[in-house]
Amino acid sequence: MAKKIKIVIVGYGNVGRGVRTVIEATQDMELCGIVSRGVPRVKKEVGEDIPVMNVADIELWIRELQPDVAILCGGSSTDLPVQGPELAAHLSTVDSFDNHGEIANYFTKMNETAKKAHTIAVVSTGWDPGIFSLERVLASSFLPDAKAYGFYGLDESGGLSMGHSDAIRRIPGVKDARQYTHAKPTTVDKVRSGENPTLSPGDMHWRECFIVLEDGADASAVEQTVKNMPNYFAPFQTVVNFISQEELDRDFSGLPHGGCVIAAGTAADGSSSKIEYHCSWGSNPVATASVLVAHARAVMRLKNEGKSGAFTILDIPPAYLSAFSQEELLKKFM
Ligand SMILES: NC(=O)c1ccc[n+]([C@@H]2O[C@H](COP(=O)([O-])OP(=O)(O)OC[C@H]3O[C@@H](n4cnc5c(N)ncnc54)[C@H](OP(=O)(O)O)[C@@H]3O)[C@@H](O)[C@H]2O)c1
Repeated sequence: MAKKIKIVIVGYGNVGRGVRTVIEATQDMELCGIVSRGVPRVKKEVGEDIPVMNVADIELWIRELQPDVAILCGGSSTDLPVQGPELAAHLSTVDSFDNHGEIANYFTKMNETAKKAHTIAVVSTGWDPGIFSLERVLASSFLPDAKAYGFYGLDESGGLSMGHSDAIRRIPGVKDARQYTHAKPTTVDKVRSGENPTLSPGDMHWRECFIVLEDGADASAVEQTVKNMPNYFAPFQTVVNFISQEELDRDFSGLPHGGCVIAAGTAADGSSSKIEYHCSWGSNPVATASVLVAHARAVMRLKNEGKSGAFTILDIPPAYLSAFSQEELLKKFM
């Protein structure tokens, strides 16, 4: 059997846990360790079987763990902009940087660093950005006259947005929170009909929040802070529900999410045409992790070709993500 790809997880939160779960179920990879800023916290959670080291001791953990690829699971707002370039200067990386407006700048920085260090940096992969980015590009290539739209939270219960939940938890007076995004069905229908409407974010989705307050916190102040939060909530119709910790733990413990990319319009001969791609995930972090882990495989294939620099899902042949050989792919999927 071929040598397994050795993965180090950088940062241990929801996505980090997901990456561990996915690697443990994957035949061609092994987890060689976790590096974190909170070594005692992570050791307490994972026990003695997995080496846990301080992320700051880069040279030490690279020497001891000998990873082929680092999967970066830190947050996009403040962790990845620092950790990404720092680590790409030492080893090949995969990350899910999802600050959409900043992706081009982040890519440039990672590309310069990785080219200099002769490493590979796969940036901004996951499901969005990631597979939905790929689907938008495919749709706009095959149906150039149609706009490609992304909708999230198509089920009645919506989809859990981890970034928005985190933003609410940072408000003073909030003990815990979950935020569910809901697509607006009438807008989805309009897009499906091929109208190609011009839409604002608030036309496409609404947001539902379930918040547990600290003792004595001012509910109406928290509600106003949520509803007026720029970018996150201000452009949307937002419903705030206050509930107890018991209710949150009992009724909202899962991390489901999903959505679709739709492009509908006319093809070159005027015939009406539609492309749709759907995802429905029982766990947002495990979904994201599944995509990250597949990209670690692509990193090894790119490395073996002598490549270096930054890549997105758009730059990587799908065959490089697959655990199947070319021969198997031709037989099974073509
Ligand atoms: N592209 C996509 O489709 C996609 C989808 C989902 C998420 N994401 C991205 O993934 C990023 C990570 O998401 P996440 O849900 O894993 O974030 P998270 O749970 O908040 O973890 C982020 C980091 O915070 C630290 N941390 C986690 N739990 C902690 C705790 N209890 N105490 C102290 N520190 C803790 C960890 O770093 P240390 O171990 O170093 O302390 C961890 O790497 C998000 O920011 C988002 O940008 C992308």
